[in-house]
Amino acid sequence: MTAGPHTPFPILPLKGEGTGGVAAMNAPVKPPFDARAIRAHFPILARSVNNKQLVYLDSAASAQKPNAVIDAMAQAMRTSYANVHRGIHALANETTQAYEAARAKAQRLINAPAPEAIVFTKGGTQAINIVANGIDVREGDEIIVSVMEHHSNIVPWHFLRERKGATLKWLDIDDDGRLDPAALDALITPRTKIIALTHCSNVLGVGADKTLIDIAQARGVPVLLDGCQAVVHARIDVQALGVDYYAFTGHKLYGPTGIGVLYGKPERLAALRPFEGGGEMIDVVERERITYNDPPHRFEAGTPPILEAIGLGAAIDWLSAQDRAAIAAHEASLRDAAMDRLRGLNWVMLHGSAREKAAIVAFSVQGAHPHDVAQLLDQQGVAIRAGHHCAQPLMQRLGVTATARASFGLYNTLDEIDAFIEALEKARKLLS
Ligand code: ALA
Repeated sequence: MTAGPHTPFPILPLKGEGTGGVAAMNAPVKPPFDARAIRAHFPILARSVNNKQLVYLDSAASAQKPNAVIDAMAQAMRTSYANVHRGIHALANETTQAYEAARAKAQRLINAPAPEAIVFTKGGTQAINIVANGIDVREGDEIIVSVMEHHSNIVPWHFLRERKGATLKWLDIDDDGRLDPAALDALITPRTKIIALTHCSNVLGVGADKTLIDIAQARGVPVLLDGCQAVVHARIDVQALGVDYYAFTGHKLYGPTGIGVLYGKPERLAALRPFEGGGEMIDVVERERITYNDPPHRFEAGTPPILEAIGLGAAIDWLSAQDRAAIAAHEASLRDAAMDRLRGLNWVMLHGSAREKAAIVAFSVQGAHPHDVAQLLDQQGVAIRAGHHCAQPLMQRLGVTATARASFGLYNTLDEIDAFIEALEKARKLLS
């Protein structure tokens, strides 16, 4: 397969910084980003594990939380908490305002056209399930996914195969995870209902770019992007991308678990059938008839994740107050240092070596199971993930059953890369 012209990551230049794309984001910035100062915001990073200073290299699984998030959630519980959209008393009003303010923050984060285009969910997975269950799919309809999707962007579509007789069509990658625009074009038919692609693979660190969205739209097919990893590492502008749906989760974005976002173009959300029924998502309920509330409330049945939304809002505020171009440059330096050091070990194989990718590095150690590698690193205080990363079709494409993975957050340092490599060398000695 021939790779497309480019599938760079980060995908978009920062707003107001021209069209420099990756180069602009990776250019050195002044003053240099101070990861050590940032670490002071994350109390957990001071702890030790197995009597060693913690080196946390598993942020793609879940990022650690700054005090700003911890404090915002505790403060809400201590001082101003009630259910939202139901009460007329002061605490209910205050909490409703805080919840809706969090929605506006998520709107600004991804430049959605209106707060109503932001649906709060319990995570990225639920966001994708809302779309899969809300669109009209019939027997013989086709859904295109790539082979490097997370299971959260595969299984909801498999349900439609099992339950509705839809056909899943798979877009291949090259060995570094690049997607071929011509191959996507060739997969689209008049039966294609939706194209669901990752904006940044949790294993390979690359994903779909605007070229693919443009192709889909030229063929009249909606696109959903799984942005769970991408939103952490790049500024996202859903209007510039022109994407129909965008899903992300809070806990990888330095926010709490239990909260995610589904962005949908207003006309898409208006046409989507609600997935869950319950309180607040309705307008009128009678014995023989119901009518629905407008989006986004139509998709937020029951008491929503109120504190988690407030926590996500705090995470967005905190992250937005940092210099995101400097963060991107810092993460690129961590990625490059880790990859260069791993390349220097002739018993390590890298999976996905695209030059421009997010700070996610998957690798295998010759003759060792990734779980054993991860366990030996853990004994030295270094936390990495090992396994299939909820991406079994990708593992099959790579010809492995599992990999090890080091993933970096804005709080990691070059010293931690040294500690990681040192721990890996010790693990290798114990394993051979
Ligand atoms: N999707 C998360 C990961 O990649 C859990 O580890």
